[in-house]
Amino acid sequence: MKLEKLLSIIITDNALHAKWLNTLSLMENTGARKISASEDPLTVTYIILKHAAEEHRHAFYLKKQIEKTGKNACPTYAPEFLLAPAYSKYYLNQLDIQVSRYLKQSLSLSSKDLRFAAYLLVTYAIEVRADELYPVYQEALENEGSKVNVKSIILEEEGHLEEMISQLKQFSPQWEEHAKIAVEYESRLFEDWITALSEELVAA
Ligand SMILES: [Fe+2]
Ligand SMILES: [Fe+2]
Repeated sequence: MKLEKLLSIIITDNALHAKWLNTLSLMENTGARKISASEDPLTVTYIILKHAAEEHRHAFYLKKQIEKTGKNACPTYAPEFLLAPAYSKYYLNQLDIQVSRYLKQSLSLSSKDLRFAAYLLVTYAIEVRADELYPVYQEALENEGSKVNVKSIILEEEGHLEEMISQLKQFSPQWEEHAKIAVEYESRLFEDWITALSEELVAA
């Protein structure tokens, strides 16, 4: 199923829409916690603190949007309150594993350096995705006349992508080559996630 079609099915069903928002909230929270976990307690910068704070806000904001679906459901991230729960949890962790493996093999990085480089590449790939996904979702929300909106997230995600690029440029003159590989891993995982979501909707 194409993303646009998937979203129009989800948005027109309040119970599904509540679970979708909760699923996005889970993924934002996973991303936020990964950024916080990769912070070096001594050398953490303004950009990284800002980024972590904003990703945590996205998780909270999406959770809050659930009220607008009229469903007071999804109190937690337990599987019954999520769409494609197993895959939605797997996606980001798997991307992290694949990118870390690549960095170990190609640049022989380890410990602190590996953690920081993985943060840069994983987050970059996710920001590229966020900059595609949220505008498509926002358009679908407007088409269906939904009260939910994600405009404030779109604005911050655009800033994040620019911030990741500027950090990547400092990290390596070959940053584009590494970033391309991270985006390839992410694209495959994203496709599989969409397939998992489609299968769940068809089965519902
Ligand atoms: Fe975000
Ligand atoms: Fe972001």
